[in-house]
Amino acid sequence: TTVTTALGSIQFYHTTQGTPLDLSLGSEEGRDTEAVKHFLETGDNKYMSDESVLKKGEELYLTACSGCHGHYGEGKIGPGLNDDYWTYPKNATDKGLFETMYGGAQGMMGPQYGHLTLDEMLKVSAWVRHLYIGDPAKAKWLTPEQRKTFKPFDPDANEG
Ligand code: HEM
Ligand code: CA
Repeated sequence: TTVTTALGSIQFYHTTQGTPLDLSLGSEEGRDTEAVKHFLETGDNKYMSDESVLKKGEELYLTACSGCHGHYGEGKIGPGLNDDYWTYPKNATDKGLFETMYGGAQGMMGPQYGHLTLDEMLKVSAWVRHLYIGDPAKAKWLTPEQRKTFKPFDPDANEG
């Protein structure tokens, strides 16, 4: 069957409802970057290995997420995003994290497509991963090479 809610080859699903996400909702802006086009075809977020997006990702995270998830993703009224425990294990993947951000989960975790463009969500994802202090072996977004040289986020060493 043809799924009209996808903008690329991949179908994305709501994290708690399992229903297809309609990616045509939200801003038209930020849909045509190389990273978004690649992501919609593959589910792979290129920004994960692009340090140049971290500053923007941080800025967006601080406006859209930190009020509930904490300045460093340590958790507040929402769960910690910087450790290796996930309520929804798929959030350890690029695709899963995006699905939760785009479509929301339960309660206060509402859909973010009204606040952030697709491109911005991929940048926020890169920042969320940058905040990680958990076991590198459980960091599915890292390549085997990156796991070997992984250093946990250190707020004192990463100001600004
Ligand atoms: C859950 C990310 C904004 C409140 C989650 C989860 C992720 C996430 C990945 C699932 C965590 C897990 O599986 O353990 C984000 C990002 C945000 C954002 C990246 C910004 C773009 C917010 C905001 C609020 C919020 C603004 C509060 C108004 C919550 C709550 C949960 C949650 C209460 C638990 C929901 C559940 O278990 O179903 N968030 N979030 N989040 N978030 Fe957010
Ligand atoms: Ca957690």
